[in-house]
Amino acid sequence: MEFITLNNGVSIPRLGMGTWYLGEKLSVREEEIEALQRGIDCGMTLIDTAEMYGNGLSEQLVGQAVKGYRREDLFLVSKVLPQNAGESRIRRSLNHTLRMIRTDYLDLYLLHWRGSIPLAETVRCMEELVKEGKIRAWGVSNFDTDDMEELFQVSGGENCAVNQILYHLGSRGIEYSLKPWMDAHGVVLMAYCPLAQAGSLQRELLMHPVLNKIAGAHHITVIQLLLAFVLHKENVTAIPRSGNAAHVQANAEAMKVRLSEREWMEIDHAFPAPEYKCCLDIV
Ligand SMILES: NC(=O)c1ccc[n+]([C@@H]2O[C@H](COP(=O)([O-])OP(=O)(O)OC[C@H]3O[C@@H](n4cnc5c(N)ncnc54)[C@H](OP(=O)(O)O)[C@@H]3O)[C@@H](O)[C@H]2O)c1
Repeated sequence: MEFITLNNGVSIPRLGMGTWYLGEKLSVREEEIEALQRGIDCGMTLIDTAEMYGNGLSEQLVGQAVKGYRREDLFLVSKVLPQNAGESRIRRSLNHTLRMIRTDYLDLYLLHWRGSIPLAETVRCMEELVKEGKIRAWGVSNFDTDDMEELFQVSGGENCAVNQILYHLGSRGIEYSLKPWMDAHGVVLMAYCPLAQAGSLQRELLMHPVLNKIAGAHHITVIQLLLAFVLHKENVTAIPRSGNAAHVQANAEAMKVRLSEREWMEIDHAFPAPEYKCCLDIV
């Protein structure tokens, strides 16, 4: 697995796994655990979850899946809801998350999206949690360029290590200003929905002749090509989600995909990055 070094020196895997909707159905629990364990065994040791997902059920599933692994070999990420990201509630939220995941620290804790609690208060809390050893790094999610600028005005805000945002080949708006801003300020991009939810966020992706031609030439699926696209960018870590072990393994293999400059140019031509500022896509 390749790693990126965060602004505080912590190493983060370039490819991990998402867990939205996982853990909610008892009937597929064993399959989902098998999928997460397959991913870890393939080197995708980063698992992203959130207190919101199934109201703790996804975190609980993660806890069950990682039980037999050494904690230091894993990179566990969770997200606090905006209404809980202040002095009065963040510890309760984090402690609940830690209990669900059966661990005593997180590698990364993210503010799920911006709410009404002042950024300065959330940053203060995050910094305290780092000092207490309960989290190794902190970040945000769904922050656009203006939110990041505001965050960096706040004392300690520049310690934000990651912004988790929607990024896939069919949604390249962030390449215009947000990603360059993050690159310049040392904030790593964690790409959510890197598979465009298996194409359901943009149907034309899976059918597109250029993507099918290039995927065919490399003996990979268009889904793997979508993942290779985000991984080809610098300063990006991606968290595709799957409850299916074979799919997870296919995702891990996307790390090895190497396209020629000409092929990347063809893809850019078919799905160009915008030349103007677009609103941040959110699901
Ligand atoms: N911060 C936020 O606001 C936010 C928002 C959305 C998501 N997220 C995080 O990002 C993660 C990823 O986003 P996402 O779950 O929305 O979408 P995604 O990862 O783009 O796509 C997930 C879908 O792709 C399918 N899939 C996965 N691998 C596949 C493969 N190799 N071949 C075919 N189908 C495949 C999955 O079905 P199978 O299970 O059948 O494989 C699932 O339907 C989430 O799980 C969550 O952790 C964060």
